[in-house]
Amino acid sequence: MKLKDSQTYLNLARAYAAECQARTRYEFVEYGFRYNGYEAIAQTIDKIAYQEFNHARMLYTFIQDAEVDQVDNIDICAGFPFKQKWELADNLKLLAEDEEDEADAYAKFIDTANAEGFVEIAKLFENIRNVEIMHAKVFKELYNQFSSGELYKKDTETIWYCPACGYFEVGKEAWETCPLCEAKQGVCNVVMPEGYII
Ligand SMILES: [Fe+2]
Ligand SMILES: [Fe+2]
Repeated sequence: MKLKDSQTYLNLARAYAAECQARTRYEFVEYGFRYNGYEAIAQTIDKIAYQEFNHARMLYTFIQDAEVDQVDNIDICAGFPFKQKWELADNLKLLAEDEEDEADAYAKFIDTANAEGFVEIAKLFENIRNVEIMHAKVFKELYNQFSSGELYKKDTETIWYCPACGYFEVGKEAWETCPLCEAKQGVCNVVMPEGYII
């Protein structure tokens, strides 16, 4: 089967559209956190948004590589999420849900690509899916910490670090303003559980 005649070709385009939208949606949410002084969360979201850009770039590349000729429009029919509003905590929860939905969609795309014999594309989908599962975990963790007030307050001794000036200290609670450079608390590092990669 030629890629252009397959369902996998449409799935590549569908995934590309979803990744582009995810990136933009994350920038909306990132903007909200940055605007409210939560610089460290904003930077975490920014990193994830950039990863979505690179997912989109690879999906786009696979579509381009399928055709010698110019690729014109690809018609896809799919639903995309429009759930986020401007509430900071809610948005983190909704981003986690989006990531889980994407992971489910990729699971189907992987099966279809394998069934149609596009093993390399199935592997691409699988690699992306594993990242989306990690993204969901990170967003869920950020939501839990942010909504429970535990972002900068822990039960255990924690290393707090100011990326603005490099100052660090150990304690259960982060400073209100950095003792060295007076950066606001929201600049201070976000602490993720072990095994969480961002
Ligand atoms: Fe992605
Ligand atoms: Fe993601």
